[in-house]
Amino acid sequence: MIIKKNQSLLKLNSFKIDVYAKEYVEITCESELLELYRQHRKKKILFIGGGSNILFTKNFNGLVVHLNIKGKNYKKINDKYVMVSASSGENWNDLVNWCVNRDFGGIENLSLIPGNVGGAPVQNIGAYGRELKDVLVSCRVYNWENGSFCEYECSQCDFDYRNSIFKKNKNLLITKVNLKLTSKNHLIISSYSGINEELKKLGVKNASIKDISIAVSNIRSRKLPNLDKIGNAGSFFKNPIIEKNQLDFLVKNFENIPYYSVENNLFKIPAAWLIEKCGFKGKKFINFGVSKKQPLVLVNYGGANGKEILQLSKSIVSTVKKIFRINLETEVNII
Ligand code: EPU
Repeated sequence: MIIKKNQSLLKLNSFKIDVYAKEYVEITCESELLELYRQHRKKKILFIGGGSNILFTKNFNGLVVHLNIKGKNYKKINDKYVMVSASSGENWNDLVNWCVNRDFGGIENLSLIPGNVGGAPVQNIGAYGRELKDVLVSCRVYNWENGSFCEYECSQCDFDYRNSIFKKNKNLLITKVNLKLTSKNHLIISSYSGINEELKKLGVKNASIKDISIAVSNIRSRKLPNLDKIGNAGSFFKNPIIEKNQLDFLVKNFENIPYYSVENNLFKIPAAWLIEKCGFKGKKFINFGVSKKQPLVLVNYGGANGKEILQLSKSIVSTVKKIFRINLETEVNII
């Protein structure tokens, strides 16, 4: 475990913001985490994983800890299920491919989501009709408050739309996740956001989980900016969930507004639609802006600073509020 001074975080955040940490350390096994706790727990610390859901607006005047523990394996549960265990520093999409290649079903709809395994439960990643909570059995967690390891069962994780106990309590550090996946009789979910259309285009009739993974990857590659080329952190905002009376106001005033019924008389509105209607889609300010493919995603075309992007996000929030009376919440962690 080597603590480095004045480390650039450029390569550690997918927004590609060039900020510095006063101190930096990479953790590659659980014993290093224990050592870190013993020696440095009094310091001001920021834990990061894949860095794909973070916007740095300034240098970090403390110790940045990059949790990067690797390893994955599986055990047969019975005829129909396997338990896949993966350490938090594994790349999420590598894990998806590893599972799809072994014909383990359950996370293929979550193909090509950026970030690491450890970040997946934090915001209960979700796409194309699947959320992590649908397959997660438990997480191994290091509690930074008392320096001990414990196991969080799925029901203890407070999972909700892009939310969890780990998002609320930053002292709970995930070191491993256990997922229950199908080894046969897979549940194929293809009714969301163009998957069926994509399968048709590919000439697929009875889709396998590999077909779903390919279809989702194709759609994501078309609809979202390429992370290797353009700095971004995926959806910057959550899709707002509103009550019936708010929906009535919107439907009355904005004829074609799309919405989806969720539960208990609540409705989800695509934030992308609201942002596009406010005229922000594709808007570019020198070296940052709003993606021209998906307005939920703010982008750094190269060399932008986090403060400018934060300012843009605030101006989107206030415009949406003014026009639609809806409060957009950010999904990305602002540091
Ligand atoms: N829309 C527009 N203009 C656009 C794009 C979309 O008006 O340019 C509207 C349309 O009405 C469209 C709707 O938004 O039907 C939904 O769009 P999309 O299917 O692209 O999904 P989303 O709701 O915008 C969510 C997740 C994505 C996930 C997709 C696919 C959130 C905050 N985002 O986006 O997650 O990939 O569904 O299931 O829930 C991420 O979290 O980083 C992320 C990319």
